[in-house]
Amino acid sequence: MKQTVFRSADADDVWQTPLDVFRYAERRWGPFQLDAAASADNALCEKFIDEKQDALKTAWDADQVWVNPPYGSQLKPFLQRAVDQISKGNCKRVVMLIPARTDAIYFHDLVFGKVSQIHFIKTRIKFTNAKKGCPDSGANFASCFVVYDDTLPKKVTTGSWTEDPSTHVSFDAFFGSS
Ligand SMILES: C[S@@+](CC[C@H](N)C(=O)[O-])C[C@H]1O[C@@H](n2cnc3c(N)ncnc32)[C@H](O)[C@@H]1O
Repeated sequence: MKQTVFRSADADDVWQTPLDVFRYAERRWGPFQLDAAASADNALCEKFIDEKQDALKTAWDADQVWVNPPYGSQLKPFLQRAVDQISKGNCKRVVMLIPARTDAIYFHDLVFGKVSQIHFIKTRIKFTNAKKGCPDSGANFASCFVVYDDTLPKKVTTGSWTEDPSTHVSFDAFFGSS
């Protein structure tokens, strides 16, 4: 029987965003000048921050920053760091690809409470094994792009990277204004 290897949301991961997913994000919110969670094997921008430099300490010094962070215990600190780097003016926009874990407290405090846009991705991403250069059999969780940029109109969108967004909903319409 073929063994299915899922990318765990808790794994100490080195998985790379598939290029078509990254290009979709670049078309919508890029171009990105910095990949703030990377290694030499999987960096998606010429300029990147790796674990040794530590993106939780090194300034995210670029206009538009791409981040597919580690999904274990570092995920929350990375979200906090995005908020921090925007507020300090080190960057203007941070686009992160994260699990759509909408029940998590950090998601409510650091995503719903802080981002301008969320784009929920239809279907599950098959992340790429950067060393082998091939996709694995798929994540066992949903993903979304979250965009930290106070100058953008607030929006929640859905869609996949193979098609135009299927819906565009304002935050107020989506969550109700109170
Ligand atoms: C999910 S992979 C992202 C791969 C690729 N850069 C992308 O955007 O798809 C997360 C990467 O972050 C790196 N990483 C882990 N802790 C880090 C830290 N504190 N600062 C910067 N990079 C870190 C890991 O080594 C890994 O390469």
